[in-house]
Amino acid sequence: MTPSEVDLHQQVQKSVVLCVCGGIAAYKSVELARRFMDAGYRVIPVMTDDAKRFVGEVTFSALCSEPVRSSLWSQSDPVPHTSLARRADLIVVAPATANIISKYANGASDDLVSAVLSAATSKVLLAPAMHTEMWENRSVQRNVSWLIDGGVDFVQPGVGRLAGGDYGAGRMAEPAEIFDVASRLLGAPTSGDESTLGGIRVLITAGGTREPIDPVRYVGNRSSGRQGYAFAQYAAEQGASVTLVTSSELPVPPGVAVDKVETASEMFEAVKKHFEGSDIVVMAAAVADFAPARVADDKIKKADGVPEIRLVPTADILEYLGSNRRPEQVVVGFAAETSRLEENVAIKRSKKQVDIMVGNDVTKKGAGFGVETNSVYILDGEVSGSYLDGVSKLEVARVVLTKADAIRRARQ
Ligand SMILES: Cc1cc2nc3c(=O)[nH]c(=O)nc-3n(C[C@H](O)[C@H](O)[C@H](O)COP(=O)(O)O)c2cc1C
Repeated sequence: MTPSEVDLHQQVQKSVVLCVCGGIAAYKSVELARRFMDAGYRVIPVMTDDAKRFVGEVTFSALCSEPVRSSLWSQSDPVPHTSLARRADLIVVAPATANIISKYANGASDDLVSAVLSAATSKVLLAPAMHTEMWENRSVQRNVSWLIDGGVDFVQPGVGRLAGGDYGAGRMAEPAEIFDVASRLLGAPTSGDESTLGGIRVLITAGGTREPIDPVRYVGNRSSGRQGYAFAQYAAEQGASVTLVTSSELPVPPGVAVDKVETASEMFEAVKKHFEGSDIVVMAAAVADFAPARVADDKIKKADGVPEIRLVPTADILEYLGSNRRPEQVVVGFAAETSRLEENVAIKRSKKQVDIMVGNDVTKKGAGFGVETNSVYILDGEVSGSYLDGVSKLEVARVVLTKADAIRRARQ
């Protein structure tokens, strides 16, 4: 390189702080470091003490041409955690152990990796790796959920061989996938792998809202939330950071952040809170159109006669999303219909200004509320849509999210 090329390279060279923790997958981070180096990033390796039980620090320091940092009490840098955090364009933690996820979620900072994370102002990407029992542990999932909710990105672990000859969920994503997601977060072109939603933030709503009449009664609908949960499961499996705003009690898929709500107005507030940071929004919830104008403080007594309940309209969340989104955000709406499906879906799509409208005829057997399968009409253009008939709700999620991601990519 000529001196001016070197200058230009140094001006644009971005820094990745690569934090390696104590899991068997630490060996895969050697390959990850090499990919970052080959792509021209400055890679600053940071290892926990337990990471060094799995891989030698010389491997990282030689590969990255940078000394491995491990201690908060280094002679050369008096405040290493803040200086590393400030230099980072991206902090990648791979493998992210259950331990470091817990420390990060709880603001602990008793070693260099956790202190760098506490001081981070850049984007942070975690690639968890652990045994299935640990990954599915409630505390781990609560911590993951908390971090996703706070804007931290994840490359979700997959299913495969684990330490000790075991097999299951919790295996760290492959270096190529982590590198692709990191590149996206660093604003660089990716390999263009169409099958992954890594680095994408997806907001999903699910369930039927309940509008209270008095402390024990409510106006509700038959939605179980299954279709929304299938979206959450599929998006998380594809590596997206998923926030699920839900009124349903179904078990939450691993790696999904949950915001529990009950009423339409609570759902509206939650959606507004998460909307700004989302790339794709799927409004699969059956939000009440009307709610009692007044909620009685005490249980309405039978002896007082049949009450007259006046209903008032609730906020139209989909309309809000359609008219307040940024141009690159993709919004998917759902329409539960009982007649003239295609016509009603087309009207709703253009009125609400959304990208994709998915309609289902809820009177059809094996479709709509409470069942595992669905039959839908998907309208993603002005003119004609497509049908999926009697397929699993996961398949509906796959087809719709693939279309939504194609729209998102085309807008970049
Ligand atoms: C053989 C072996 C493999 C381990 N693999 C993992 C793992 O994949 N993920 C994990 O979260 N913990 C794993 N652990 C436990 C961690 O090493 C342990 O919780 C440690 O305190 C993590 O420290 P760190 O987060 O500071 O690196 C493993 C332990 C042993 C002995």
